[in-house]
Amino acid sequence: MSPKKMIPAHLKGKKNRSPAKQKKRKLKTRPAPKTSVPRGPKAVRPKVLLFQPEVRVYPTPETLFQESAHQFMQIAREAVNERGRFLAALSGGATPRGLFQQLTEEPYRTLIPWARTYFFWVDERHVPLDHETSNYRMTQECLLSRVPIPKENLFPATNGSLPVDKAASAYEMKLRKFFGDASAPVFDLALMGMGEDGHTASLFPGVPQVNEMEKWVVGYFVDEARKERVSLTFPVLNAARFLMVLVEGEKKAAIVKESLGGSSEPPRYPIQYLRPATGKLAFFLDQSAAALLP
Ligand code: 6PG
Repeated sequence: MSPKKMIPAHLKGKKNRSPAKQKKRKLKTRPAPKTSVPRGPKAVRPKVLLFQPEVRVYPTPETLFQESAHQFMQIAREAVNERGRFLAALSGGATPRGLFQQLTEEPYRTLIPWARTYFFWVDERHVPLDHETSNYRMTQECLLSRVPIPKENLFPATNGSLPVDKAASAYEMKLRKFFGDASAPVFDLALMGMGEDGHTASLFPGVPQVNEMEKWVVGYFVDEARKERVSLTFPVLNAARFLMVLVEGEKKAAIVKESLGGSSEPPRYPIQYLRPATGKLAFFLDQSAAALLP
């Protein structure tokens, strides 16, 4: 089902209202509609969460990665100060390499509380951890092998050994064990990317997994090019305190214009399903990726 055909339930969410405010809402009255049929209790229409990202544009890839590293560090330090640990879900692909490189260098190598940092993966190719296409391997090479993060703080999504749907269930069990059976795991940071087709995580245009509302993790065969993937779902991603979408390069300019500059009601691309109810959604772009934005 293509994304444009339906707005999934998780995009319809009531704002968290304090009881007092809810009381106010119940006291509000409206003129009764001109019908003779007696009305039942007033149905409270859930508010639709809109796609309203903050957009930050930096002049070069270098400044994009320096600034996103600074933001990463701030989120990490605040999380540890407030909650004693920093929980981050990382995406793969090529773009995060620039950010990871920054994090291995000063001042971030020193300022980030690595011993209290816990890494999960937003999505993963369903392959062994040392496979050349593995997101875990890329992160290991670019970051994990170069900072003092304890191995027990790493939670890979899959190592390719189970059938892909079982791997997704196993990852979900891992998350439920760590986060407890909450309504959704709350990451302090979800580091996201965007493909040229507007996908994010491993949630691609037209796949039913884009509309998964119950599971925390899905595992499925995408297509011959992308093979099998394990991915967090939008209800989990949208529970994050901070969704950082890193997009770099002129090849992404068209999809940036389409997804950020065009309409999102109803969503036309999976990226437009990123609608945190209480968290922050920010796109970090370099000038090349933002070139076609008005
Ligand atoms: C993956 C990523 C994916 C990525 C986009 C952008 O596993 O490939 O999680 O969602 O963020 O495909 O990839 P690039 O950064 O390589 O352009």
